[in-house]
Amino acid sequence: MPDTRGSIHGQWSSRFVFILAAVGSAVGLGNIWKFPYITGENGGGAFVLVYLVCIALIGVPIMMAEILIGRRGRQSPINTMRVLVADEQANPAWRWLGWLGVVTGFLILSYYSVIAGWALAYVFRAGAGLFTGADADSVSTLFGALLGSPESMLAWHTIFMVMTMVVVARGVRGGLEKAVTLLMPALFVLLVLLVFYAMYQGAFARGVEFLFNADFSKVFQHCESLESGGPASCRFTGEPLLIALGHAFFTLSLGMGAIMVYGSYMPGNASIARATLIIVAADTVAALLAGLAIFPIVFANGLEPAAGPGLIFQTLPIAFGSMPGGRLFGTLFFVLLTFAAWTSAISLIEPAVAWLVENRGIARVPAAIAVGVLAWVLGIGSVLSFNLWSGESFQLFGKTWFDLMDYLTANILLPLGGLFIALFAGWVMSRAASRGELRMGDRRGYRTWRFLVRYVSPWLVVIVFLNAIGLI
Ligand code: TRP
Repeated sequence: MPDTRGSIHGQWSSRFVFILAAVGSAVGLGNIWKFPYITGENGGGAFVLVYLVCIALIGVPIMMAEILIGRRGRQSPINTMRVLVADEQANPAWRWLGWLGVVTGFLILSYYSVIAGWALAYVFRAGAGLFTGADADSVSTLFGALLGSPESMLAWHTIFMVMTMVVVARGVRGGLEKAVTLLMPALFVLLVLLVFYAMYQGAFARGVEFLFNADFSKVFQHCESLESGGPASCRFTGEPLLIALGHAFFTLSLGMGAIMVYGSYMPGNASIARATLIIVAADTVAALLAGLAIFPIVFANGLEPAAGPGLIFQTLPIAFGSMPGGRLFGTLFFVLLTFAAWTSAISLIEPAVAWLVENRGIARVPAAIAVGVLAWVLGIGSVLSFNLWSGESFQLFGKTWFDLMDYLTANILLPLGGLFIALFAGWVMSRAASRGELRMGDRRGYRTWRFLVRYVSPWLVVIVFLNAIGLI
């Protein structure tokens, strides 16, 4: 019975802390680093619209499904799936879903930590005043120097991974709860400040138009900039739809059990629907604010919106370099970005660590070290993708290791995990079970959720997939 189950890992001290932790997981590099650059590569407004539709029709119902599964099972995703499969007398094959999540989390963490390392490196660059008076060229050179040095990228990647292991080792409740309360609001304030800067100093109207003017001929156009900031080359493909879908999962931390494991620590009496709406709203606002801060600066400085993963590292320093107090704000911004990445990275390894603790009786500290070291080793491939292994001879399917990891996880594994989560919550779990856990009664809210999770989200995921691989 769900109410008598408790988690051996403890529980969040309140509903509010659960929301903060989930927002901490959701708001991260995905919002501030990835959303702007993929929007830039996929033509802007129409892409943003497709992304918002994915958030509403797929993200919201699947997040509710993940939280409810987690809270019902009250264990790591692998064991939660095992318990619920027994509860519902479902096909044992569903247990693979937990494993799929753990593997996906590893793969994401491996490259996530590398990018978070860039943010960390930029804290010190901003602090040293390297951006003061910088123009587009000098900022690009600075970024290029970081990418060109595998040693320093590896060092930052290592530091970030150690930071992540330390928090997870100490237990989620230890320091994370307090830090999140203070730093997430600070990040929002700083983002708003940057939007004001963009409003007065950037090409704000062009930025807004790029983000919100939906020109649908462009949603099928994917552009990539040729070698370091050169002109972009574009082609027509269904890929932007898959990228928008994948990003909806990535940005909300869905599809791999992160939100499921956080849900397993959620107080039993809190409303899952209400928490979900708050988390999704905060995440979406963070992404849109980042877009509103970045694109006006891109256009005002003649930069390339399709510059790729380096976009924020090549635009924001220009803003910091010329604004009053820019050295302070720049440093603060990268500190907060690192923090946002940190609170996300923790949720990427928590499912695996929780499982090691439950099943192998391993203490949290060695469990966190084992998982972190493994992801660190995999991450070396991503470090080298930007320098020694960037050449064609090291590419698989025309992608570097980093691109391949990103594509495989965000565009394939997360949507696949999300699809199965929706199917499990909508079709395998009994009505009584899901209704009991959501505590919404049998009113319109519950019926809408069940309809979406049974019919709408799964089909949309399947259709987008088939379209992107060229079958429809
Ligand atoms: N959502 C985070 C971001 O936007 C990344 C992240 C954390 C994540 N946990 C996840 C992505 C679980 C997918 C699954 O930066």
